[in-house]
Amino acid sequence: MNNVYPSPHPLVAHKLALLRRKDTESQHFRELVREIAALLTYEATADLLTKPISVETPLATAPGVELQENIGLVPILRAGLGMVEGVWELMPNAEVWHIGLYRDERTLKPVEYYNKLPVAPTVSVTLILDPMLATGGSAVATIDILKRWGVTKIKFVGILAAPQGIELMQEHHPEVPIHLAVIDECLNEHGFIIPGLGDAGDRQFGTG
Ligand code: PRP
Repeated sequence: MNNVYPSPHPLVAHKLALLRRKDTESQHFRELVREIAALLTYEATADLLTKPISVETPLATAPGVELQENIGLVPILRAGLGMVEGVWELMPNAEVWHIGLYRDERTLKPVEYYNKLPVAPTVSVTLILDPMLATGGSAVATIDILKRWGVTKIKFVGILAAPQGIELMQEHHPEVPIHLAVIDECLNEHGFIIPGLGDAGDRQFGTG
């Protein structure tokens, strides 16, 4: 599959197994989401542009770089929220723009309920954060919104994906790279990823 990057990293795999466990409590679940988000973002940002600078060490002048692009994080509410803190630990200056979508339980189609993007884009690269890529409807709708906003460089950082979600993304937005912990087997009749980890929003926020 082009442009799809399941993580090869053993730390991600280890933390993912803990995240899946049904007896992992909310607090631990949130910590794991945060940590996995940071590890996946490390992989997803390997091609960020930098510009050369020089820095004064206590002893001499050294060549260095700084990030050239300003980065926006777009967590899809609610479940994407828990990924923000992990990414902020790496990129504390990243702007965060929230998009609220929920999936209609009957149709499985995304319904937009919150969007506070300014009229013109203020960032050059956006990372969409959502742990779950199930049917792919929410991610596709978010990318549609971001493209209308005018952002051209978009990456999706998730944790679990179903093959159907990846297919829908590739049909609508094939140029958007998909960074994940893993690709799971399938969706069940309720649109849940199998074997999955249950409902990432409910497990983080103690609801459901
Ligand atoms: C979940 C998940 C994604 C979406 C994935 O959110 O966090 O946003 O479903 O499904 P899709 O790929 O089929 O669109 P949910 O609707 O449960 O809302 P929540 O995050 O508020 O719990």
